[in-house]
Amino acid sequence: MKATAQAHPNIALVKYWGKRDEALILPHQSSLSLTLAPLAVRTTVEFGAPGEPDRVEINGRQAKGSDLDRVVRVLDAVRTESGLERGAQMVSRGDFPEAAGLASSAAAFAALAVAARAAAGLAPDTRVASILARLGSGSACRSIQGGVCVWERGTRADGQDSFARQAFSATHWPELRMLVAVVSREEKEVKSRDGMRHTVETSPYYAAWVKDAEAEIPRALDFIAHKDIEALGALAERNAWRMHCTSLAADPPLSYLQPGTLALINRVRRAREEGVPVWFTLDAGPNPVLLTLSAHEDAVERVAREAGAASTVRCYPGGDAVLLREHLF
Ligand code: PMV
Repeated sequence: MKATAQAHPNIALVKYWGKRDEALILPHQSSLSLTLAPLAVRTTVEFGAPGEPDRVEINGRQAKGSDLDRVVRVLDAVRTESGLERGAQMVSRGDFPEAAGLASSAAAFAALAVAARAAAGLAPDTRVASILARLGSGSACRSIQGGVCVWERGTRADGQDSFARQAFSATHWPELRMLVAVVSREEKEVKSRDGMRHTVETSPYYAAWVKDAEAEIPRALDFIAHKDIEALGALAERNAWRMHCTSLAADPPLSYLQPGTLALINRVRRAREEGVPVWFTLDAGPNPVLLTLSAHEDAVERVAREAGAASTVRCYPGGDAVLLREHLF
């Protein structure tokens, strides 16, 4: 009745931005991401006595409000699947800054999904775990497996065909590097779930965003298959710009860009002109993530520091979410 899992976050190169179903977290378009090691979240779940309330601790604090609600939703889905009617205790710990432009929620809900299913005695199933993680946070469905994952948007109203699948394992392109450039540690003002809802509802560019992003997925897969970093980097940059343009066109406009973000993005372009193979992507926050290859990691880190990044986090392709023997309580 107790299990612990570890999962890595992921960074989308073709981003998810907008839900067609808010309750089930079903997206308007498919997305594609790279699982990021060494950053990880570890989560222990134990089912206790029937009727006990759920107790949820995230990074040393009792979870409240919508954070608690989202965890309970996932636990409820596991109780329904397994027929268990027991309260759960959950403790979760991440090793990277929260709300720093790189969602820790993806790793957290992936670890929760895997740990909770194992604690309930359910056999491992990446499809079911991905659907379960999605109920907590959309992007979490892409952290059940490692390497490159594609979240197929699906068309069913019940969301059973909306989950992520591994397209390439972490060993396909081990030289790939992603460097998180932290230009601001401030908590972002508009959470992604509010930002995407506002964008869907008010941006005149939204339909174009959906169509374009969907069409980029097969291209991204092809570039990854051929390890074409130039084409993949260009695709990642234009996809990030298009997501942010769609938000900037919302009413009122929504901008996640800060002066430090733009300074870094401009420096990345100059570095490329100087011969360093580096491209950026940007989630719903101020901190760009830089795409490069291992041979250029030091040069890219220097570029990020010169452009004002206070710190950087070096990441490489991560593996699947896994069960661990050691529990957090
Ligand atoms: O899953 P959420 O609610 O954290 O939303 C993630 C949205 C982006 O990070 C901006 C894009 C993505 O696909 O991860």
